[in-house]
Amino acid sequence: MKDQFEQLKDDVIAAATKIADRDALERLRVEFLGRKGKLAELMKGMATLAGEERKLIGAVANEVKSAVEAAFVEAEKKAERGERYERGETERVDVTEPAIGSRPRGHLHPVTQVREDLEDLFTSMGFIVADGPELESDYFNFTALNIPPTHPARDMQDTFYVEGAHGSNGEVVMRTHTSSQQIRAMRAYGTPLRTVTPGRCFRNEATDVRHEHTFHQLDGMVVDKGISFAHMKGVLGIVAKHLYGPETKIRLRPKFYPFVEPGVNGEVTCYLCKGEGCRLCKKSGWLEVFGAGMIHPNVLREGGVDPGVYSGFAFGFGLTRLVMLKYGIDDIRHLEGGDLRFLNQF
Ligand code: DAH
Repeated sequence: MKDQFEQLKDDVIAAATKIADRDALERLRVEFLGRKGKLAELMKGMATLAGEERKLIGAVANEVKSAVEAAFVEAEKKAERGERYERGETERVDVTEPAIGSRPRGHLHPVTQVREDLEDLFTSMGFIVADGPELESDYFNFTALNIPPTHPARDMQDTFYVEGAHGSNGEVVMRTHTSSQQIRAMRAYGTPLRTVTPGRCFRNEATDVRHEHTFHQLDGMVVDKGISFAHMKGVLGIVAKHLYGPETKIRLRPKFYPFVEPGVNGEVTCYLCKGEGCRLCKKSGWLEVFGAGMIHPNVLREGGVDPGVYSGFAFGFGLTRLVMLKYGIDDIRHLEGGDLRFLNQF
């Protein structure tokens, strides 16, 4: 009987070492080690043996069983290696491909972050975000905003006239401010109206730390019956508090803008010194961040709105300036420079 066990062991091990396929190996295992397999069959015969002999053969049987199991483990490992090898023959690993997660992640430009933040604030107050073209007609950028061709106010915003190009409204320029969207918005949406237009603007500037030919603004307007200066102050106060905290106050001082009457220069209490006076606010306690005013009747008329029935206010924030103030950036040219050493800080 001992020989029979030994024989079985040799047969299984010999068979297992020849098999390279895991399914076939499993079938072999069932055939020999399964509940109704050959080993179980042999062990049944042990019941007829007498005490001493049964112990001896029992030990042999256990030995055979573990040797066979070990052989199966080995054979399985081999089969797996074989499969992997085969896969390696058909699949290629590109070792030059960057590992997952190793590629640097980008993020939004600081101006975009501030823009999106303000878009959220204004839409929460019922404004729509109305985009407009960067290459704009001279008419929408200047003339319709109460700045006729020969008016000296054009000198405040020297822009890039695009030679030889004419749109349906005549000569075209790179827009000098996002206020150029005001007439378009009134004509497109009518009254009542609440819009903001963020975007890129361009001016013919001799660039230095404070001047850049490309920068960002956010212009907005409200037109409805009975809109007053008080509504304007209320909305701008909310924006100021949103940007610089609940203690922030605003100050409005007269300033001429051709498209508003009266027009104001808007300031907020310096967030750094809380109005005490410091280097940032040049000891004044105030930071100049927007222009605003009651929309000029001529502008309403150009937009197809009757100034005898409707009134409105408009405002323009320098987004680039807001970002510079927020982060204490001392050179405006960094913002359009595209230098990652600068941009990665935000
Ligand atoms: N467009 C002006 C500028 O670029 C800013 C401005 C002032 C916009 C008054 C307005 C406004 O809408 O009402 O300097």
